[in-house]
Amino acid sequence: MAGGEKVDYVFKVVLIGDSAVGKSQILARFARNEFSLDSKATIGVEFQTRTLVIDHKSVKAQIWDTAGQERYRAVTSAYYRGALGALLVYDITKRQSFDHIPRWLEELRGHADKNIVIMLVGNKSDLEDERAVSTEDAKEFAEKENIFFLETSAMQATNVENSFQTVLSEIF
Ligand code: GTP
Ligand code: MG
Repeated sequence: MAGGEKVDYVFKVVLIGDSAVGKSQILARFARNEFSLDSKATIGVEFQTRTLVIDHKSVKAQIWDTAGQERYRAVTSAYYRGALGALLVYDITKRQSFDHIPRWLEELRGHADKNIVIMLVGNKSDLEDERAVSTEDAKEFAEKENIFFLETSAMQATNVENSFQTVLSEIF
């Protein structure tokens, strides 16, 4: 963008879900188009930004990422404060990470703005051979909860862009 950055909107989006489902790698893919197989567990809170154009307006997405592990998690209410969107992530090869989704959703709904846009994300779709959660089950859950749903692969860069775009456009 010539003449530097002109930002019309800043939208905060949070990533939540169990440890090791791939939250930090989804963020790395979206913010820097990077991916690492030896990603370390997140400690505390980190965030990255990327500015994109939606409807001819410049939107700065500020994506917050925290630890899935309870002992590394930061103060919950501060994390959710001001968030307009959320990616609720599970790993399609780990049934438990999907079974915990209702708990994450409850925490989210308890702390975030009631109009927050939520996307259920089944990550690691590249590991089809190890799939433990059917697309149908997840779709059904998302419909019941009235939230968006997509399967992604941070590794193969499948649907990562689409997930954020959908949430950001809906906020917009
Ligand atoms: P916490 O920070 O502990 O909450 O974990 P996290 O959800 O941030 O997980 P992270 O992004 O660190 O990824 C965990 C592991 O899964 C790493 O080894 C990643 O390389 C791997 N991983 C992430 N996304 C994918 C993916 O789409 N496909 C495959 N095959 N592996 C992935
Ligand atoms: Mg992480």
